Amino acid sequence: MTTSRAGTILVVDDEEIMRDILETLLKREGYDVRLASSGEEGLELARSTPFDAVILDIMMPGLNGIETLDELKRIDEDLAVLIITAYASVESAIAAMKNGAFDYITKPFKNDEVLVVVRNALERRRLVNENRSLRQNIQERYHKFGNIIGRSQRMRHVFDLIIQAAPSRSTILIQGESGTGKELVARAIHANSSRSERSFVAVNSGNLTTELLESSLFGHIKGAFAGALTPKKGLFDLADKGSIFLDEISNVPLETQAKLLRVIQDRDFARLGGLESVRVDARIIAATNVDLRQMMEEGRFREDLFYRLHVISIQLPPLRDRKDDVPLLAQHFLAKYGEENRKADLELTPDALDLLTAYEWPGNVRELENVIERAVVLTPGPSIGVELIPDHVRKAPEFQAPQFVVPPEGISFKEVITDFEKRLIESSLEAAGGVQKRAAELLNIKPTTLNEMIKRYDIQPRRRRSTTNDADPKAADDLDRTGPPIAPATVTLEDK
Ligand SMILES: Nc1ncnc2c1ncn2[C@@H]1O[C@H](COP(=O)(O)OP(=O)(O)OP(=O)(O)O)[C@@H](O)[C@H]1O
Ligand SMILES: [Mg+2]
Repeated sequence: MTTSRAGTILVVDDEEIMRDILETLLKREGYDVRLASSGEEGLELARSTPFDAVILDIMMPGLNGIETLDELKRIDEDLAVLIITAYASVESAIAAMKNGAFDYITKPFKNDEVLVVVRNALERRRLVNENRSLRQNIQERYHKFGNIIGRSQRMRHVFDLIIQAAPSRSTILIQGESGTGKELVARAIHANSSRSERSFVAVNSGNLTTELLESSLFGHIKGAFAGALTPKKGLFDLADKGSIFLDEISNVPLETQAKLLRVIQDRDFARLGGLESVRVDARIIAATNVDLRQMMEEGRFREDLFYRLHVISIQLPPLRDRKDDVPLLAQHFLAKYGEENRKADLELTPDALDLLTAYEWPGNVRELENVIERAVVLTPGPSIGVELIPDHVRKAPEFQAPQFVVPPEGISFKEVITDFEKRLIESSLEAAGGVQKRAAELLNIKPTTLNEMIKRYDIQPRRRRSTTNDADPKAADDLDRTGPPIAPATVTLEDK
């Protein structure tokens, strides 16, 4: 049986004439129709073929309509079942509705009546399916990655790394500018690891004296320092069998770095003031927004610890390098803060969204989140326009024409112009988040002209910039160096 787009309908009726009428009527509308002359036969068909709806006679010898309905619902709880009943026995139809029938038709019926009810049933079925797949999508994307939003190439790479790295015990170093989501990623790694049932302990290493930091990490014995009146356990104790997140690891003083190295290498530590070693099995995830390698080269970060931490490194891209994620993130925060502020159906006007996409976001996702939260709180209606976007975001960057110095030996006019044109197109594409139509608008040229030039100059649409902060070239090597085998990524985040 080929499945028609209109839908596939099962008709269960013991009277041949009724089956014929319904078959003719429904086929004429483009539905696929299968016929069964008893409840038993209908159930057999329903078990082997998925149907969109069932038209079921209530008065049948053998298995009656209600019994058949019950069983149909067991086979597929979302199946839309329409009951046919004699006018005289509407009560039984109502009983059927209580048992999960979608609607009923009384005999004798008009053709149109049947078709309307069938159409409604199929529409409902479609909505139920759609809802389910939406739910699944959301679960897949959001649960697996604890709310990390992003579909850009760069973020997909991050998701792949999370999936690959999560199951192992290896130490992970997350690098990225402030507000790029380092803590979110750390939590996602923990959530996707076998340790997810145990604690995730976040430690902010900033601003504490060495003594206090060490006592909070490792605990102390009585009298370890003035004020240590009772012995105390540390955060590493808490994180045993779980994960510990050392945020801003660059703030950890050199002496404490030595102790961290010991935890990583020997899986034990000593309490402050104590000699006894305490065993611990904690997965270490560290994060930094400064260049640790440079700190290491300057002697401010231990080389051995750097390499231990760097076994797997995840580089989070700044938001300006993944502008195609801006609309998605904006949408996510609109929904989040809309719900918090009890404002429904919020949306950004296209102009406002353009501004958000053009801006460079030095504070990354956190800054975008704040901008949206503010707009949601302030907006009087559901539509959020440019007037609710803060001034500094609205201020478009000014165009600066380069200064030229022509050397005495001269230049190739043609080559310079070509190079200039090419770079202008690349910058516009970047400013437009890769959307060619928008880039053409920015340059005030026709999209077709732009497209022609892109082809002529062989410009890659989503060019990756090769700054040192970009995709970490070591990351791939580093992955190879981890002990346990790394499973290939099994989840892709592409939308269907
Ligand atoms: N990809 C993302 N999807 C959704 N929300 C995000 C994303 N990235 C960051 N955020 C949000 O932005 C805020 C900052 O994220 P987070 O605290 O993880 O950043 P960070 O890199 O640790 O920053 P910092 O270096 O300043 O500590 C959080 O509210 C977080 O929920
Ligand atoms: Mg952080």
